[in-house]
Amino acid sequence: MPLVAGVDTSTQSCKIVVRDAGTGALVRSGSAKHPDGTEIHPDAWWTAFGEAAAAAGGLDDVAAIAVGGQQHGLVALDADGRVVRDALLWNDNRSAAAAQDLVAELGDGDPQAGAQAWADAVGSVLVASLTVTKLRWLRDAEPDNAARVAAVALPHDWLTWRIAGYGPADDPTAPLGPQLDRLTTDRSDASGTGYYDAQADDGAGAYRPDLLRLALGRDDVVLPRVLGPAECAGVAHPSVAGRDAHGGALLGPGAGDNAGASLGLGMTPGDIAISIGTSGVVSAVAPRRTADGSGAINGFADATGNALMLAVTLNAARVLDAARAILDVGFDALADLALAAPPGADGLVLVPYLEGERTPNRPDATGTLHGIRLATSTREHLARAHVEGMLCGLADGLDALRAQGVPVERVMLIGGAAQSPAVQQVATQVFGLPITIPEPGEYVADGAARQAAWVLASASDPHADAPSWATSVATTLDADPRPVVREQYAAVRDLV
Ligand code: XUL
Repeated sequence: MPLVAGVDTSTQSCKIVVRDAGTGALVRSGSAKHPDGTEIHPDAWWTAFGEAAAAAGGLDDVAAIAVGGQQHGLVALDADGRVVRDALLWNDNRSAAAAQDLVAELGDGDPQAGAQAWADAVGSVLVASLTVTKLRWLRDAEPDNAARVAAVALPHDWLTWRIAGYGPADDPTAPLGPQLDRLTTDRSDASGTGYYDAQADDGAGAYRPDLLRLALGRDDVVLPRVLGPAECAGVAHPSVAGRDAHGGALLGPGAGDNAGASLGLGMTPGDIAISIGTSGVVSAVAPRRTADGSGAINGFADATGNALMLAVTLNAARVLDAARAILDVGFDALADLALAAPPGADGLVLVPYLEGERTPNRPDATGTLHGIRLATSTREHLARAHVEGMLCGLADGLDALRAQGVPVERVMLIGGAAQSPAVQQVATQVFGLPITIPEPGEYVADGAARQAAWVLASASDPHADAPSWATSVATTLDADPRPVVREQYAAVRDLV
């Protein structure tokens, strides 16, 4: 069977998997670091992509390639295909005030009406992460740069364009030059811009130039063509990939990272993925997005034609890092300590808003520890309180999804911290649901590879379904509901 490549151009690094298109078996992989920071010159992504491809043994033999990536980042290009400034990433907060302004403006001065209007229009209430707020910031803070913007793309759109051979004028690594009208994106990443409505025209989706104009002051910029889930974006330039594949390597439409992970995990309606990484992401696939004016839920698109509903918390794996720092122990010892204390930690409760919080929206909150007594002043209780508090925060995100009518049948726990036995066991108690823990893997890159295989299959059969690659499940745990944990948490959460 032919080989396909999936790329994850993530915040921290570029990861590439090469898989068998038929079985999904992993053949090779490679990765390379991105620089730290919340504003990055996209050339760093291109360099890391080249290094990751080399580490994966090259891409000459792949028949299709697709790119998943960090959502929302603003890649503003001038007419010569050069970036007008470093890209502002999803975790760059300088546009927080711009987000508030845009919310109020769409509500004619009423922020609550504005929040609902944005949710109705594009599925999400604006926060600083979303691209549209970064355009408003650019208009106000850097008017000269704003005036030079000829096209606006997202990280995965830009990298796909580069792989196809396009790029800045006079750049030897961009043999096809700065053809802005060859930029493409997909529904999932477009739905995180704040100027695309995936639900428009009965689910066909459409840009909202009026919202782009509201932010940037004009709408005469090229936006990437939005492709359907298995639509081909073109062919990779042979100098980059597919030199030895018949007809070259087909390019997939790509995806935002959360949609890529959902495709990699094979999620369907009823499935919930809870990812415990730098941020915590509770995501669900649903037939249609809702419009949550409270802002708790982002109504994005997935990479298959469904909606992808997300609740994002800022306090996830780093809460466990904080506990490890306080207790001066490693990952395994923290789990042992936490499991040595009883469920509910005898009333010791951590509200883990160590970095403020996004869901619920409390940017200035701090963490608090409640119920400190002599009996709970032990390392075991403290470890348990951190694990429980972090999972209670995620359980609030799950409740926010339920409140939107999202079906919850199966919970998959992913991300680095999901490997902790304490997190696994406490999750069965806090969520009160059976928990599936897939084998650790690069789900975003895997989802992109699966999409590449889908695009390849669609080239000969336009009605082909996504290939049904098996996700290997490492562990399945039964539900062990302990309502006391969330009851205690709910009693103190709002005291912060
Ligand atoms: C989603 C979000 C993050 C980024 C991380 O809204 O902001 O999950 O996609 O890459």
